[in-house]
Amino acid sequence: MSKTYDNLMEAFAGESQANRKYLAFAAQADKEGCTQAAKLFRAAAEAETIHALRHFSNAKNVKSTAENLQAAIAGEVHENLNMYPGMIADAENEGEKGIARYLDMVCKVEGIHAELYKDVAAAPSAAGEDYYVCPVCGFISKGAFSGKCPVCGAPGEKFYTVK
Ligand SMILES: [Fe+2]
Ligand SMILES: [Fe+2]
Repeated sequence: MSKTYDNLMEAFAGESQANRKYLAFAAQADKEGCTQAAKLFRAAAEAETIHALRHFSNAKNVKSTAENLQAAIAGEVHENLNMYPGMIADAENEGEKGIARYLDMVCKVEGIHAELYKDVAAAPSAAGEDYYVCPVCGFISKGAFSGKCPVCGAPGEKFYTVK
């Protein structure tokens, strides 16, 4: 890969992080009553998303949906089988039990994401039910959800749908 490709992907990573960082900062600014700072954080978050998406497409990493689904599966499987297990072990070794439990929850959710992607990859243009997301752990349910989140125990009424 070229230096330009590497630069675009490095910038994509940075701008993607800046987007979420600014949204977290905006929520904190709202809590402190700093509304102008909150507005600027949200505006800048939008701008960084524009940059991130343009970097990613200029790097030619948006392909056909069939290919994108395979990329998504590979990413989720990597997180589930390699990335988070290593991080959980590191947290345990450092005595960060709470962080280890938290990462274990996220790790489980990534495995479920991988399975959902595999289902859709089998028939990418088939219609299906809407998805519902747990606001606590990121578990995704295919179809309306009631009861408690199977991963974190959050109540089903808190789930929200994404189309
Ligand atoms: Fe995921
Ligand atoms: Fe959950």
